[in-house]
Amino acid sequence: MAGIDPWGSALVQDYLRLIKDFGLEPFDARMLNAFPEPSRQMRRGVAFAGQGLKDILGVMKSRKPFYVLTGIMPTSERLHFGNKLVIENVRYFQERGARTFVLVADLEAAVTRGVELEDARKRAMDFHIPAYIALGIDPEKTTFYFQSENDSVRNLAYLMSAHVTKNEFEAIYGSTEPGKVFASLTQVGDILYPQSIEKMPGVIPVGIDQSPHIRFSRDLARRTKGKFGFFLPSALYNKFTPSLDGGFKMSKSVPQHYVSIPEEPKSAGRKLLNAFTGGRNTIEEQKRLGGQPEKCVIFELYKQHLVEDDKELQKIYGDCRSGKLLCGEDKQHACRLMETFMAEFNRKLEKARKRVKHLAFAR
Ligand code: TRP
Repeated sequence: MAGIDPWGSALVQDYLRLIKDFGLEPFDARMLNAFPEPSRQMRRGVAFAGQGLKDILGVMKSRKPFYVLTGIMPTSERLHFGNKLVIENVRYFQERGARTFVLVADLEAAVTRGVELEDARKRAMDFHIPAYIALGIDPEKTTFYFQSENDSVRNLAYLMSAHVTKNEFEAIYGSTEPGKVFASLTQVGDILYPQSIEKMPGVIPVGIDQSPHIRFSRDLARRTKGKFGFFLPSALYNKFTPSLDGGFKMSKSVPQHYVSIPEEPKSAGRKLLNAFTGGRNTIEEQKRLGGQPEKCVIFELYKQHLVEDDKELQKIYGDCRSGKLLCGEDKQHACRLMETFMAEFNRKLEKARKRVKHLAFAR
């Protein structure tokens, strides 16, 4: 079966179906209990699936070396909330001892999005890397690199090309355009690169759109076991942050339903006032029947991003269900939390910019 097109914007409606179709492991109660001090996303089902997570649990328990890796697409000077979820997952593993790798996918951006390498570099230095630091990545404990400068990554990608056929590639990506072939092999190079420094298991936190790359990397690691001896990379999958109108994924195409990071705090907050809530038709009905937080974009934003404390989240849930908390008041609250998040992000970004000058990049 052809996978999701990682460069497209196909809507994927049903997470359980994704688990089945892609042969993922659900992130279930057993997993939740197994992970030490599970993160907000793990506790709330935002991290909803994985691959090979037992391997990562094993090394975390026995305090053996392992790594976490993520890639930055330097297409615009903005992040989206899905990036924030990935970064927070990276931080979770970094704080638990993972060797941490953050790469700038400048080659991928060049061949799949037409971004000049120089522009990619400038953006990564001015914005993306400081933004990752602002969202909690510790630069002192992180290896950064650019795809275009890392010989080991590109050599690995080149060598891996001998182990895949056109048909296999087509089955995973639904296309064999040369640019996509290069970008995908380079991503396999990224994902396995830390193991060319030190053989160890690793985890790649991603949105579900990246699952073809994970599958490709695992297939290639398995197939070249005798030659390279790589551990199969593990993955942790996040749900999407929904669009403010209730759509499955927050997409840039409708600006009034999309909040980017950063955004002017007041404007970001204001957009939430028009979000879809699943509220009842009238206030009277809402008081009588209660709200429906399961359907509500505002509640999903609390859950994924805006409310850290579980008790506080539980209280909002209860007050909404009982009809005590009405949508108008609730949106005002969300609006203020969003404004605070944006203002804090901007402050941390400015601070992080000063640290980037001193970074060394792996080659
Ligand atoms: N393809 C990723 C994206 O579109 C970027 C990326 C490149 C990446 N190499 C990676 C992500 C390695 C995770 C791991 O965002």
